[in-house]
Amino acid sequence: MNQNFQQLRLDAVGRSFETASGGAVAALSGLDLTIRRGEFIALLGPSGCGKSTALNCLAGLTTLTSGAIWLDETRIDVLPSERRGFGMVFQNYALFPHMTVLQNVGFGLRMRRVPKAEIARRAREALQLVQLIGHENKLPGQLSGGQQQRVAIARAIVIEPPVILMDEPLSNLDAKLRIEMRAEIRRIHTQLERATIYVTHDQDEALSMADRIVVMRAGTVQQVGTPREVYGRPRNLHVARFMGYRNVLPFRVVGRAGERLTVNRAGVRLAGQALDVADGQAEVSVAMRPDDFELAGEADDNTFEATVRTVEFGGRDSLLFVSSALGDLYVRLPGAASPGDRVRLRIPAERALAYAEAA
Ligand SMILES: Nc1ncnc2c1ncn2[C@@H]1O[C@H](COP(=O)(O)OP(=O)(O)O)[C@@H](O)[C@H]1O
Ligand SMILES: [Mg+2]
Repeated sequence: MNQNFQQLRLDAVGRSFETASGGAVAALSGLDLTIRRGEFIALLGPSGCGKSTALNCLAGLTTLTSGAIWLDETRIDVLPSERRGFGMVFQNYALFPHMTVLQNVGFGLRMRRVPKAEIARRAREALQLVQLIGHENKLPGQLSGGQQQRVAIARAIVIEPPVILMDEPLSNLDAKLRIEMRAEIRRIHTQLERATIYVTHDQDEALSMADRIVVMRAGTVQQVGTPREVYGRPRNLHVARFMGYRNVLPFRVVGRAGERLTVNRAGVRLAGQALDVADGQAEVSVAMRPDDFELAGEADDNTFEATVRTVEFGGRDSLLFVSSALGDLYVRLPGAASPGDRVRLRIPAERALAYAEAA
């Protein structure tokens, strides 16, 4: 398949499955997305939202029930998986346990009847890229989880695929290694100059690795944007909640100037940011991240009083559960605090995001 492609285009791609009772469930509906060569795309969403279905449709492991997939001018959803030649990396590595590292990596080339000497050379190059030189003759069982995942990546890239698809590749690794491997996968992506489509349910992973994030829910795309856009300006309450806006409370609108809203709840008046609020909308939901609160000074605006109920100490900061006139809130503040403490909290107006949707 064309490695010098310019773009991979998903055109209203859908996939439904038959249910036992004879109906159909849509695992994926109307996915529209154009991925440029060199881009790192994360498909992000909770378990069961259709991420693997989308990836499998791209790989050719499952057929579409609607839409089309194009690599530049070539329609590829009609081609069998092996003709698309996309590299795949799975959560469980899927290595052959009885083959050495070098044999595992060379497997795809043997299947393609590439000459022996070339297989050895290309497999070594791939192992070099994932920094596993010296481990060629080991069996997968003799490697750590992180090393096994590197073998799986080497095996995926050795066939020189135009697109690399990764389905939650770091989920089986421990927390520290997971974070190291993020940078590693990003480095490999950059060196290859192809496109990577990376499936994860982990917001931090998507935010730290991707050029663009596709946020999914129940088989539909909620938002496509850069990490900064998706994190700072979630398009709806679902995306906001998924991006960590844990506090969502109803407020009454009392004033508006452009995107800046003044809202009121139980006598507390706050300035906020209208993200999806029509003019004249009287009731809104306001979403606030625990991390965006701060301890207020005397002269500050946008403040309210709260009482600390419980404290989860986290070293640099503490996650507090507080009660206030607004209701109960999760708030992250630097240092320590104790149950019963009275605090004055501030939320910056641009970090209190208002939506027309009911909470
Ligand atoms: N082969 C299948 N048959 C029936 N339903 C399926 C099949 N594969 C996936 N689904 C359903 O499609 C939805 C999306 O699944 P999946 O793509 O695996 O989600 P994710 O990878 O985001 O966890 C789920 O509700 C799942 O049960
Ligand atoms: Mg999945």
